[in-house]
Amino acid sequence: MPGYITTFSYQSAVSHVPQFAPRNFKHFCVEPVTGAMGAVVEGIDLRTASDEAIAELEQALVDHLALMIHDQDLSPAEQIAFARRLGRPMPWPFAKKMEGYPEITELIQEPHDKYAFGGTWHSDSCNFEQPPKYTMLYCIECPPVGGDTGFANQYLAWETLDPELKAELEGVRGVYSTELGYGTGSASEEVQSNATTHTIYSPEQLNEALHPVARTHPVTGRKALYVNDSFTVSFEGKTQDESLPLLRKLWAHAITPEFCARLRYTPGSLAIWDNRCCLHYAHSDYPGHRRHMRRIVVEGEKPV
Ligand code: SIN
Repeated sequence: MPGYITTFSYQSAVSHVPQFAPRNFKHFCVEPVTGAMGAVVEGIDLRTASDEAIAELEQALVDHLALMIHDQDLSPAEQIAFARRLGRPMPWPFAKKMEGYPEITELIQEPHDKYAFGGTWHSDSCNFEQPPKYTMLYCIECPPVGGDTGFANQYLAWETLDPELKAELEGVRGVYSTELGYGTGSASEEVQSNATTHTIYSPEQLNEALHPVARTHPVTGRKALYVNDSFTVSFEGKTQDESLPLLRKLWAHAITPEFCARLRYTPGSLAIWDNRCCLHYAHSDYPGHRRHMRRIVVEGEKPV
């Protein structure tokens, strides 16, 4: 025998407990999507939901991390009104805002577009001191199949790390920058110029922040891995070169299939997720078709 080296290892069984014991909510039903995260919500109209229903929806987000709510009929003003019930809408300065509705960024992929905005694993806007807690996408148009948003549960990513590595990472902060995704000459420059969201980037708009690489969720008190290759440049006090070997290992671990879910849209669907404990990814698997989403992000707290 040539003595080959085995390079793979098996992921031991892992799951997110609320997926197996969904609550009986008073105002809607939830149907979990995978053992890791994600749920489809049925029976709520986001235009008329009571305060109690909105509080339940936030509890469902705590439990399932990402929700898909189908069959909504939201004007831009109604989507903004819903977002305001969850917190302060936070415009993304690197994209063109919707005419008359600065809180909304329209994500439009034309049939000829090659890349999808958000087509890398990331948590939104972690270059800010107070990154968004929630992101919501309201679907105007989507391909008959494809164009899902993928998610990865970062509680599971943190909890399944080797205990020695977790101890090493305790208290460590990372540098999160827009330079990677939005700087001139960045990997996404071509994406931004192809995508119809028309990113505007000028050196004075680029910014960065320091955050813990494992952040504690303010509601659950659980730690979640908080690194991604779209924003995390390095560990604090280390160069990018010094940081990359470990960062690459963490990025690969963060998207282990057992931590993941995909949510599928139809026109009128609204997806909403918690950026404090999951990563997401826009799948670019529908050339020749159009996808149009209205996106709002809701400000969160400073990660600790
Ligand atoms: C995003 O990254 O915010 C967009 C995700 C998507 O379009 O599916």
